[in-house]
Amino acid sequence: MIPEEILRRRTFAIISHPDAGKTTLTEKLLLFGGAINTAGAVKSNKITKAATSDFLEIEKQRGISVATSVMGFEYAGHKVNILDTPGHKDFAEDTYRTLSAVDSVILVVDCVKGVEEQTRRLMEVCRMRNTPVIVFINKMDREGRDPYELLDELERELNIHVRPLSWPIGIGSTFKGVYNIYDKELRLFTPNKTKRSENIVAVGDITDSAVDDFIGTKPAETLREDVAFLEEYYEDFNLELYQEGYLAPVFFGSAIYNFGVGELLDTFVKVAPAPQPTEASQREVRPEENAFSGFIFKIHANLDPNHRDRIAFCRICSGKFERNKLYYHTRLDKKVRFSSPTSFMANEKSLLEEAWPGDVVGLYDSGYFKIGDTLTEGEVLQYKGIPSFSPEIFREVVNKDPFKTKQLEKGIRQLTDEGVAQLFLQQPGSRKIIGTVGELQFDVIKFRLLQEYGATCDLYSLNYHKACWITSDDKDILSRFISLKGSQIAYDKDENPVFFADTAWTLRSVQEHYPAIKFHLTSDFK
Ligand code: G4P
Repeated sequence: MIPEEILRRRTFAIISHPDAGKTTLTEKLLLFGGAINTAGAVKSNKITKAATSDFLEIEKQRGISVATSVMGFEYAGHKVNILDTPGHKDFAEDTYRTLSAVDSVILVVDCVKGVEEQTRRLMEVCRMRNTPVIVFINKMDREGRDPYELLDELERELNIHVRPLSWPIGIGSTFKGVYNIYDKELRLFTPNKTKRSENIVAVGDITDSAVDDFIGTKPAETLREDVAFLEEYYEDFNLELYQEGYLAPVFFGSAIYNFGVGELLDTFVKVAPAPQPTEASQREVRPEENAFSGFIFKIHANLDPNHRDRIAFCRICSGKFERNKLYYHTRLDKKVRFSSPTSFMANEKSLLEEAWPGDVVGLYDSGYFKIGDTLTEGEVLQYKGIPSFSPEIFREVVNKDPFKTKQLEKGIRQLTDEGVAQLFLQQPGSRKIIGTVGELQFDVIKFRLLQEYGATCDLYSLNYHKACWITSDDKDILSRFISLKGSQIAYDKDENPVFFADTAWTLRSVQEHYPAIKFHLTSDFK
């Protein structure tokens, strides 16, 4: 028997290319869920262009993102947990890690732009774990693209099968609303930014002449043709196929005008999966197991300079988490106790006594945690999470103040534990190389090293194309390769060897020359 507390939980993330409407939709879901009362309460955690050269502003915006990192609310008997993901592409790794802590996602697509760069990348990560996806095609109040064309693009570019559950009547200036194929209802659109702008009419059958009365004869004819075509062309919505991550239901709406949001939320709580089993290196852990376990997927520095502690975000995977109970930190082989764990309800934080699988608990941390750390009641487990991806930009760290060497070491170690960037050490001399996916992380690193650790450093550009983790079944070949390529070899935080390729060509050529060695672009080769 799975406890009701687990069955009623829905933990998910909203993902999108920047500007498609993720923040707007998040806010509207909270509004519909009754978690906030007014629009404008959720601040975008987008790091705006203007802020990329203004460190204080970046920090301020990062501060906003901690407040909105997890937004929990009750809706129709369900506990809904939305995990926020950073909008800026330079922080994509943060988003990938958050995706390891959710059971499903809602993908927002702009109907004018269709599938964009970040949409593609994020969906690749979802596909790695077969995460169930619901698609929300947003901004239908704008002159967007043909809906059939959008659906084809989703299938083609994102490698998923789609099944529209609602169908738009017109678009942009002619947008009249949607027909909900599942519930056989017309949802009529009356633009309104503050209230639910849906007028729901149950029409039963699409052939009902009432449809003509509501939307006009010509649009009604088109709608009938469209629905007949959809029923024939797209496979039926099947809950299992959706929950396996194979079939994505699609909704159309306009988040800014609150249109389609209620419909999305109602369907979401009905179909989205409750907390799922989690894969550890040792075994699969089921949420209904009695013993508590969870893993850290995000660490956020406390912005108050008087308090050095950080908040580690723990996704609960099994059992029940209780305040003040002794838990086992499996990497450190150490007992730990949390006296002030935090829960997040919309934009409020509060002390938490207990939490269930699917929930996210904020733990105050004074440097104990790294991303991926696992907590249990005593069992030795290591959750797998999302792998690190090969960084794309590399810099060598050079200390500028010999009196602050220790501070610099500590700062670099803690920032990389937080997952701000990846650290590689090169011998001899423990040369430090930092790898990131975006330039913005270097600004954040320099700023935080100075602010929080009083350390200053120079970051020298290194012209590498990729860092690949290297493994081989033949240990001799691997060690010969490592000594031969000494200047291009470094070690990651777990002391795994990594090869730095100058160019795509060098990489291809070593791959051809050393067929016994595997070159991995993600760290999940173990
Ligand atoms: P993001 O988090 O995915 O980056 O997107 P966000 O919600 O911030 O939305 C990006 C822009 O798109 C915002 O406009 C927002 O108002 C607008 N938007 C969101 N949903 C809809 C919609 O359904 N219809 C239309 N027409 N626009 C929508 P902005 O001008 O960048 O910001 P603002 O000044 O409106 O806040």
